[in-house]
Amino acid sequence: MRWWAMDYLVLSPEYLPDLKTADAENVSFLQNLSDALHMEASAGIIYHSPDRMIQTIKKGLNSHLAQITPLLAEEADFALMFEIGEDSNGWKEFNATKLLFGATYRIACRFFIAKELSGDEKLIKTLTAFTESIFINGLIIKMLPLGPIRGILAWPISFFHRRKMEAALERLQPLVERRISLFAADDSSSMKKSPNTEHFLDAIDWILTASSAQPTQQDSRILAIEILHNFWASSGSPSALLTQIVFQVLMFPMYLDPLRKEVQDAVSKYGWTEKAVQSLPLLDSFIRETNRLYPSFSVKGEPWRLHDGLVLPVGTRCIWAADPLLRNPKAFVDPLVFDGFRFARLATDDEKREGKEDGNSSAASFLSPTNLAFGYGRHACPGRFYALRKVKVLFGKLILGYDIEWDTPRTERPSPVSVEAQFAPNLWQKIRLRRRPVPTEG
Ligand code: HEM
Repeated sequence: MRWWAMDYLVLSPEYLPDLKTADAENVSFLQNLSDALHMEASAGIIYHSPDRMIQTIKKGLNSHLAQITPLLAEEADFALMFEIGEDSNGWKEFNATKLLFGATYRIACRFFIAKELSGDEKLIKTLTAFTESIFINGLIIKMLPLGPIRGILAWPISFFHRRKMEAALERLQPLVERRISLFAADDSSSMKKSPNTEHFLDAIDWILTASSAQPTQQDSRILAIEILHNFWASSGSPSALLTQIVFQVLMFPMYLDPLRKEVQDAVSKYGWTEKAVQSLPLLDSFIRETNRLYPSFSVKGEPWRLHDGLVLPVGTRCIWAADPLLRNPKAFVDPLVFDGFRFARLATDDEKREGKEDGNSSAASFLSPTNLAFGYGRHACPGRFYALRKVKVLFGKLILGYDIEWDTPRTERPSPVSVEAQFAPNLWQKIRLRRRPVPTEG
């Protein structure tokens, strides 16, 4: 199969477990992504050895999720207020993706760029232009009939994309430099020494902590480029998921009341905290079911020896057909039917009681051959825990704060935009919002 003008081997599902044991260095999702989008022409070699980018998420972000959730909720208030405006007592019309992507980008700027730069309008515009241009630039390089010189011509073609990246770096790099000095001067600001302190709780803190060399020896430009690309990973996919969930609840409005009640009960009991987010089994199930029928990716892999001895030469690119697995009649009753609370019913009593996502095989974050939205194996998405929190908080705030409807009544789901086996929600669909009475928080 061809994907982004490259050849891929479609592997059978029996080879999926090999992704759990594959050598993380030899089988690289990010290297593959970089090759597909010709990102070496802008990002340089950061994807050849992306360990620090991944550790920034695994060690930095993921070990602070409980602290981040209430901050996420505060940011969500600002983001929604900014995107929707205050004067929304009557119905107001919005382009759905513009509204929901706008809100998630704002939040991503707080955590994946820097605390000091959150709410910086000019920077948010620059970052949005940069992230959109990664994809558009890749698409242009892929679509032109360039044959074997595609890789060479990727450099001049990426000129305008590089300019967008430089514009973002111009703002970010000086701040990274200041933080490097701060980090080096004040050991107490290091998360290594005091992991429970709030500090900046942002990507610069985490990347400095994840760096093995002394902070003063870090190249601020490379750090800033890595931060920008983690920002890209952290913003687009959660926005798409949030939009898919809003579309789904509008297609099946009978889910709205139980979801609203669940969010309201959790927030009344625990406030907008980690505990509240962990107490939303119906919403978690609704998200997983939406991901099952409308995943945004279906690609992964690279070269290695598989469990039955089959050897894939270096340079082989692998892909799995996700849809047959996600809609497998042997795994799901009525696999083609959207059943929003399917996974909440499937959770065992222990899992329901614990309300935890770790080890809960029915959770949206749980990786399995029947839940591939976040990939599988050693390169599975490390940002999924944060992404799900962000989507739950934003969606929860949206349905508690607003009535939602299509701009005009419709019976069919807005058709997705499909580019090279990736699916984005419909970019033109409009929705209408009307403010609801302010819910009481416990
Ligand atoms: C709904 C939101 C998201 C979706 C659907 C998603 C999906 C994916 C998928 C399918 C992969 C490839 C996994 C594999 O090869 O097995 C991946 C990898 C990755 N994602 Fe996400 N992602 C999301 C959010 C995020 C966020 C918020 C971050 C950053 C905080 C992030 C950072 C990454 C990184 C760094 C990788 C590469 C991991 C590696 O190669 O080891 N993602 N993601």
